[in-house]
Amino acid sequence: MKNNNSAGLGFTVIANKLGYKKDDYKSAIDWLKSFDDGKYAYLDSTKGQDVLYYGARYFEKTADEKIFVDNDFMADLTVINPGKVGNEYIKTVGHYHGYVPGTVVAYPEIYEAITDGFEYLLQSEPDGDGAVDVIWVVTSAGDKVVMPPNYGHVSMNFSNKPAIEMDIQKRDNPNQSDYSLFKEKVGGALIRTSDGLKENVNYKIKSIKIVKPLEKPDWGIIKDKLLYNSFIESPEKFEWLLKPQNYMFDLDELFEDIEI
Ligand SMILES: [Fe+2]
Repeated sequence: MKNNNSAGLGFTVIANKLGYKKDDYKSAIDWLKSFDDGKYAYLDSTKGQDVLYYGARYFEKTADEKIFVDNDFMADLTVINPGKVGNEYIKTVGHYHGYVPGTVVAYPEIYEAITDGFEYLLQSEPDGDGAVDVIWVVTSAGDKVVMPPNYGHVSMNFSNKPAIEMDIQKRDNPNQSDYSLFKEKVGGALIRTSDGLKENVNYKIKSIKIVKPLEKPDWGIIKDKLLYNSFIESPEKFEWLLKPQNYMFDLDELFEDIEI
């Protein structure tokens, strides 16, 4: 399948592979999450398809790479296939990020839903009783979604087409990602199945908020502008991704409650 929503980044999506010119993205590293690698995150994993999602790490135009490296950021592109595993829509397996050295503040991340189809699960670190707060983010194409510090996160494709997202975060931060809670609990705290949103019985859930993301131009978060371009033009606006301990992450400023 060819997808024309490459939004000026110069790539195509064809049958489980990103198409792009290697000269244009010299440092990009293709990767792929197979059913066997990702099925642990589904309560019913008896049935699925060979490839769940795939993408490219360091998806940075060769001409822009110095801006990413010098400022200590990286960009990744992810494509989530349409379809279900069991009765659940295909999603990323989920992880928490590592802490800023000397703090208990985890590095945040920003995602752009380049296409329609995405919903995001954010869940707090478990409290002393093992309970989590859940934020379920509903998006449309162009939305930018902040994964606040100390929130584990999952991206999910609720559509019938490949869903494409880009994320920007501290360079090489994925090396510190922790997948263990999502493995132990068999996915995230809230899941979307054919029958709607369901609580994962392996969790204690303290609260659930259903939201849409808000813009925050002083942090480089503008719906109608490609995240990649906002970053290249003003990398300094994204300092909150590198030094989150110096910023307030007010959930009411980042998200607005909605009904679904
Ligand atoms: Fe992440």
